[in-house]
Amino acid sequence: MTQKPWAGRFTEATSKSVEKYTESVSFDRRLWRYDIEGSIAHARMLAKQGIIAKKEADLIVRGLKEIYQDIEKGRFIFCEEFEDVHMNIEAALIKKIGDTGGKLHTARSRNDQVALDMRLFLRHETHETARLLLVLEKVLSDKAERSMGVIMPGYTHTQRAQPVLLSHHLMAYAQMFDRDRQRFSDALKRINVLPLGACALAGTSLPIDRAYVAKLLGFDKVSENSIDTVSDRDAVIEYLSCASLLMMHVSRLAEELVLWSAEEFSFIEMSDAYTTGSSLMPQKKNPDVAELMRGRTGRVYGNLVSLLTMMKGLPLSYNRDMQEDKEPLFDTVDTIKTTLGILAEMFGSIKFRKDRLESSAGSGYSTATDIAEYLVRRGMPFRKAHEVTGRLVRYAIDNSKTLKELTLKEYASFSPLIESDIYRWIDEGRSVAAKDSFGGTSPGRVREQIRAFRKRLKN
Ligand code: ARG
Repeated sequence: MTQKPWAGRFTEATSKSVEKYTESVSFDRRLWRYDIEGSIAHARMLAKQGIIAKKEADLIVRGLKEIYQDIEKGRFIFCEEFEDVHMNIEAALIKKIGDTGGKLHTARSRNDQVALDMRLFLRHETHETARLLLVLEKVLSDKAERSMGVIMPGYTHTQRAQPVLLSHHLMAYAQMFDRDRQRFSDALKRINVLPLGACALAGTSLPIDRAYVAKLLGFDKVSENSIDTVSDRDAVIEYLSCASLLMMHVSRLAEELVLWSAEEFSFIEMSDAYTTGSSLMPQKKNPDVAELMRGRTGRVYGNLVSLLTMMKGLPLSYNRDMQEDKEPLFDTVDTIKTTLGILAEMFGSIKFRKDRLESSAGSGYSTATDIAEYLVRRGMPFRKAHEVTGRLVRYAIDNSKTLKELTLKEYASFSPLIESDIYRWIDEGRSVAAKDSFGGTSPGRVREQIRAFRKRLKN
């Protein structure tokens, strides 16, 4: 039976079922590096302030470094009886160096300690998420650059709307992921604040130097209110919010990949490496990877809602409920990292079928708006032009003709403003080229967009 740190006030031992119910070491052991890193900084500060002797701090630091090695080499046994990662490491330290180990927890509580570990973890993972997003943005903008010139149907309401450049469509996703990356980077400002020194909730009567700890651990700021510090899980929730937005974008892209790979569209071919077959139907090639990305978005949203709900009724300051912040965060971090990695890889292997994209862009009446704009340029009010073009399209449908197949006589019967140059405007290539407004789909504008985007990626 191991002695609990609170044994002094207790006469009975903790029941086994309670130990099982309350432990967190089975998952928070993942924080061990940060726990040790934080403890080393704390010990150095205690010595600098004369709260413990320099020799004692050296002994503690040496012991912690040995524990670091032990864990890294898989020689350390985490045990449930010590409840969490913090107490496991502290108990191991005391076992290693004796009573001096018991001085480490001076002017510190697990409440600010766990807040510190979480922030160190979040800082690392936020940088990592932003790095993976950058890779994905590069892959997408490269693909956009290499696909210049390919025309596809642009959609609204999942109905063919107007022809656009495939590059423009791909860049739309690149733009989303760029905003996602900015959101993560921006969150770092709020993540990178030192919580240690808030202690249980009120601060301490001992002469600690929080700014020094912040400097040792690379924090930009020191938190200003000890009660807020141990009560707060905003940083975790902010990461989960950014992650949810990101997964919403991933899921939309995944959805398009699923659609585009369906025979009805046949816009893309995915390589065998990123698809799976059916155990029953031999002809099938399924876009399971994209489907799972879409599917896993649900759990990322779920993790966000789980934490928002867990926090909403908590009185200040620390409550044990907050231990429940870890598994949702870890799960989201893992989901996002694997998803982003595989998405970037998979995207490189997707083949776009130019023939299918272009024939779909050309069929139907996707350049009808260009006829309306033609009439506008010749002085007709847009509302009127819209109506005339509508009648014209109706006529073409009724007579089973495409816009290109209508004769000039037929065109002119709808408006005398229409002349033989109309055929130039209803060609998809011309239609795309004409969308030269800033941010539009003309090749010049898309090239300009890619250039500006690339430049931003480099900064
Ligand atoms: N395992 C705990 C958590 O994750 C550490 C803090 C425990 N503090 C306490 N007063 N019981 O929140």
